[in-house]
Amino acid sequence: MEEVNAFVPPAKVPGSDKPGVFGFLSAMISDPLRVIPQSAYCEPVGAMTVLGETVGIVSDPGLVEEILVRRPQDFPKTHIDELVFRPVLGDGLLTAHGDTWKWKRRLLAPYFSPATLGSRVPDMVVPFEKLAQDWHEARNSKDVDITSAMTAATFDVISRTLFTNQDEIDFQTLSRAIDDYLRPISWVVGLSTLRLPSWIPHPGMFQLRKARIAMRQAVADLVAARRRSKTIRDDICGDLMRAQDADTGRILSDEDLVDMLLTLIAAGHETTANAMTWTLFCLANQPQLQERLAREVHEVCGGRLPVAEDVARLNWTEAFIKESMRLFPPAPLMARQTLKDEAFGAYHFKAGTVLFIPVYAIHRHESSWEAPGEFRIERFLNVKNGAAGKAGSRTVYMPFGAGPRICVGWAFAMMEMTAAIAVLLQKVRFSMSTETECDPIHRVTLRPRNGMRLNVSAT
Ligand code: HEM
Repeated sequence: MEEVNAFVPPAKVPGSDKPGVFGFLSAMISDPLRVIPQSAYCEPVGAMTVLGETVGIVSDPGLVEEILVRRPQDFPKTHIDELVFRPVLGDGLLTAHGDTWKWKRRLLAPYFSPATLGSRVPDMVVPFEKLAQDWHEARNSKDVDITSAMTAATFDVISRTLFTNQDEIDFQTLSRAIDDYLRPISWVVGLSTLRLPSWIPHPGMFQLRKARIAMRQAVADLVAARRRSKTIRDDICGDLMRAQDADTGRILSDEDLVDMLLTLIAAGHETTANAMTWTLFCLANQPQLQERLAREVHEVCGGRLPVAEDVARLNWTEAFIKESMRLFPPAPLMARQTLKDEAFGAYHFKAGTVLFIPVYAIHRHESSWEAPGEFRIERFLNVKNGAAGKAGSRTVYMPFGAGPRICVGWAFAMMEMTAAIAVLLQKVRFSMSTETECDPIHRVTLRPRNGMRLNVSAT
């Protein structure tokens, strides 16, 4: 391949090491990633104190490993997660603790293993095939709202795999409610990080409550209708309704099912939609690499739709997605809190201190990555798990988290995205449009602030 200048997408401007109350709150509300200071990109640990509340920032892979992998029981999820997610996801897998989490994870994991998911690839490619076909038929290149297209397609994928009969639930309403819930959520995150009461009036307060009720009601109606109908369906919802814990024989109650299905819908499409959006943005900026991937797709799949065996052979495509998720991690900021006093290097954190794990900064940390701002696909080529060299450590590259609470849907997401890129490149190419903006903003996931528009043309 001819040498071209490396693609360096615009990066977030780091925040201040000593933000005042208003600086901190306004950054948290407008974009929590703006709170992460420069030191997080070059130091192992940091801290900031606002209104007497200390927040630790841990970037060092060894310490992150200590928190997430070696001693997860000493670093539970935070009161922020409780306030943000529990009202809507109840005791679903993302929010559950202790033994409740353990048995639910044990129950769910087999349905998300790479071996089981292989048979779902044909369902995963349908919405992307339809998109590619529509764009291809338009012939003339056109400006497309990629964010909306990816959100709709990933929603379609999760609904096809969870529920074969998609008329069972109104996905438009559900999708809108999720969006309404996420839009004002930074207020809850900002206030709760400083342990200020969540009843303090803030924009979007009523919208949040309405959206939460709408989401839970839509899924509760579905579960009730399924229980009444007695039809056995071959989908993940059907599997979960029949699933029994191997150790205890326990099954999921209706309430558990609502929690679990909502968790899978919410966690399973927003993240993937954003990862797809940023991946397409990176492709649009690198036409030569885009052609290299298209060639690989042609060599592996010919003209037919990819199946699971093909996905496993699409090495360049997979590496491209991984490098895109390094620069644009869909979950850019994770958090845990200390259960007891902890000493990390020169820092002492009292019991109850919130620790930010800034995945965005970890993926660009000077001690782990050479030329961290450059897009270099070779970091992930010819390495099956993680990345090459030092970056191969599970806490240096961690778009899906790490340890026992690592994303249960990581294989689902990787299969879906690899197959989706392949299907799209069989029919269309992406390029920058005059309206393309690169302004990532943190709203639980890393989204383009004003959406992403790209030019799409038929091959
Ligand atoms: C690119 C796509 C995705 C990314 C980047 C992603 C990222 C993550 C991360 C970072 C976590 C860990 C959170 C923490 O430890 O605090 C997580 C957990 C989780 N994810 Fe994903 N995710 C993706 C796709 C999916 C999909 C497709 C599903 C399901 C269909 C899913 C379901 C879940 C669930 C249920 C959890 C909670 C796991 C537990 O606590 O045991 N995710 N995800």
